[in-house]
Amino acid sequence: MNELDALVDSARAGFAQATTPADLENTKAQYLGKAGRITELMKGMAALPVDEKKTRGAAINLAKQAIEVALTERRQALADAELEIQLKAEALDVTLPGRQRGQGGLHPVSLTLERIEAIFGSMGFEVAEGPEIESDWFNFTALNTPEDHPARSMHDTFYVEGGSEKVPNLLRTHTSPMQIRHAVQHVKRHRVALDAGQPMPEIRVIAPGRTYRVDSDATHSPMFHQCEGLWVGENVSFKDLKFVFTDFCRTFFESNDLVLRFRPSFFPFTEPSAEIDIQFQSGPLAGRWLEVAGSGQVHPNVVRNMGLDPEKYIGFAFGMGPDRLTMLRYGVNDLRLFFDGDVRFLSQFR
Ligand code: PHE
Repeated sequence: MNELDALVDSARAGFAQATTPADLENTKAQYLGKAGRITELMKGMAALPVDEKKTRGAAINLAKQAIEVALTERRQALADAELEIQLKAEALDVTLPGRQRGQGGLHPVSLTLERIEAIFGSMGFEVAEGPEIESDWFNFTALNTPEDHPARSMHDTFYVEGGSEKVPNLLRTHTSPMQIRHAVQHVKRHRVALDAGQPMPEIRVIAPGRTYRVDSDATHSPMFHQCEGLWVGENVSFKDLKFVFTDFCRTFFESNDLVLRFRPSFFPFTEPSAEIDIQFQSGPLAGRWLEVAGSGQVHPNVVRNMGLDPEKYIGFAFGMGPDRLTMLRYGVNDLRLFFDGDVRFLSQFR
């Protein structure tokens, strides 16, 4: 093997040993650099006679080209290897199962509200909604609780700016304002019939929603839920309230093993008034009386504020606590859990 072929071979071997692009460039310098072997050989030609210079120069050039080809090939091979490593590192295993979005669900109190609406819906009650920022008039005055009435202090009210007879100035402390709002709309809808002395279709409505009071502990939250119920007609009596509410409770708790007690109480907008307590006859809550709603026969002044004649129209109303019902149904002992937004708690109700 002549000297030039040996040089090309050693360059190839040197390139093959280089494992990184930087290594390779160093090795290249040994052959093709300013002080490299090829340059040396070129310089050595100066001493040769003219006719030998030609053949020698051509031979060195061939060797140089062969080394350059070997270099280019090795550069490409190293770049390919690097890309390969990178691709491996970033590889996606398309056969892995996809990441699924966690399945959502309704809030336990929403589940209760849906149940309440379904049960009362089946008894012919409509569902109405009203504003949470309410005026003094609807929250208190129209409900037979005038300005200086001591019953106002029963509610610790959040007041907001504003306030006149029709300007909202508080966060409703109960859903009872919906008694007036809904009845007034109902009466308006049937004004013509009423004026013509025709009978008015009965008012039968529930009004679920958020309510607010300055109160906070394990069984009270400044924001809580209520659901109002109202049934007004020419012939509605307390026994209808008893029947409707008993039926509701038994359906809601899926138990006939449950009794109700109507305990005399006071609300300015009902007379007579009663707290409704329930008692399970079996199960973990058996034997305890549990308060679930306030109720009563709608006060004549309230009937009047609905735009109806209290000599002709009579009815009952109730206001229950869906949060409380949810706690009882699922055995939850701290109301605040419902509003902390902890998914570990909430996901148990999916
Ligand atoms: N609004 C009353 C309360 O929040 C409950 C109630 C509603 C009582 C309707 C009687 C009639 O305590």
